[in-house]
Amino acid sequence: MSTQHHQQKALFLQSKQGKFVVSPRDIPKPGNGEVLLKIHATALNPVDYKIQQHGIFVEKYPAILGADAAGVVEAIGDGVHTFVKGDRIFAHGLLENDKATFQQFNITVADFAAKIPATLSYEQAASIPLGFDTASTGLYGKSNGAGIIPPWEAEAKGLYAGKPIVILGGSSSVGSYAIQLARLSGFSPIITTASPQHKTYLQSLGATHILDRHLSPSELVDSGNKIIQLSKADLHVVYDAISIKETQQIGWELLSSERPGKLILTLPPVVEKKENDKREAISTYGSPHAPQNRELSKGAWKQLEVWVDNGEIQPNNIDVLPNGLEGIIGGLERLKQGEVSGTKLIAHPQETA
Ligand SMILES: NC(=O)c1ccc[n+]([C@@H]2O[C@H](COP(=O)([O-])OP(=O)(O)OC[C@H]3O[C@@H](n4cnc5c(N)ncnc54)[C@H](OP(=O)(O)O)[C@@H]3O)[C@@H](O)[C@H]2O)c1
Repeated sequence: MSTQHHQQKALFLQSKQGKFVVSPRDIPKPGNGEVLLKIHATALNPVDYKIQQHGIFVEKYPAILGADAAGVVEAIGDGVHTFVKGDRIFAHGLLENDKATFQQFNITVADFAAKIPATLSYEQAASIPLGFDTASTGLYGKSNGAGIIPPWEAEAKGLYAGKPIVILGGSSSVGSYAIQLARLSGFSPIITTASPQHKTYLQSLGATHILDRHLSPSELVDSGNKIIQLSKADLHVVYDAISIKETQQIGWELLSSERPGKLILTLPPVVEKKENDKREAISTYGSPHAPQNRELSKGAWKQLEVWVDNGEIQPNNIDVLPNGLEGIIGGLERLKQGEVSGTKLIAHPQETA
């Protein structure tokens, strides 16, 4: 780090349900297993506006939010052997002021970071961490997921060939990574719901059947069941990336109450389990830093570096916001209004006035 650089700018949520304001703060120093990252791109996620709107998840204010970062390694902490100063990396941040990503520099945990291949921009790389990790913990997590064997383990790539999977909300960030991981795990057919304009894109990621998400719940359940019957297989896993009441109900009805099926959710469950119901509804938690995810996510990030390099995992489509960190405020409003379709909003912290 150059010596004249002691301060940076960060976007602070000033108080619970308060205002976002850009202010200066010190550049932190990396500890054991950490690096200092100069953040060139950060992505916006629905959780960032939900924290502001509902006052959830964060207790210490002023707080810096943001979980997705891509940039350049500026300094290396002890015990980090995977990166050197100057590497272009992307990483999953954490809701602690030194480790969150709506700022110009953060402390990045090396285990949940990977090199950016020359084929990807910072903006594209920043679209990956939270969406990918949530898909990964939901499919492969033992305690908060479907417990599927991850495709990076020995002989496990393609292991679920011929088994169907349904991913509700395929054009969402989480949904797009769930489709790609399902493809790498071998699932077929991969049935998803989205607005029709995303059909070609979702097929390119590996979805085999795309149903219009505006169909009525009964039409969606019927169509899904027909495709599964045609493939002569039983459905055991539904990943509901959206997890509002309506989609949870669709996912629940697609699963038979007489078989041990799993409905994976990104929000708390609202479905009702009947007596002797063999179905389960499981909420996942996408942070690799959480104790229950650490081992799984370490393996996932090692493999992710290979997959982004060879193109087996594609980043989201991106939409870059103007005005650096300030631009995040308007971007979160667009996310809240449901105006973001099939794309990840990205900000450039270094362009903050
Ligand atoms: N538990 C966790 O750890 C965790 C982690 C990450 C995210 N989440 C939650 O997971 C949800 C998804 O996050 P995200 O970042 O992936 O969202 P996102 O990318 O912002 O989602 C936008 C997409 O949602 C789709 N969509 C909206 N309503 C739908 C419906 N009824 N059926 C199918 N698709 C629908 C839209 O599809 P079209 O444009 O095609 O219409 C749009 O492309 C959010 O609620 C988020 O808070 C939880």
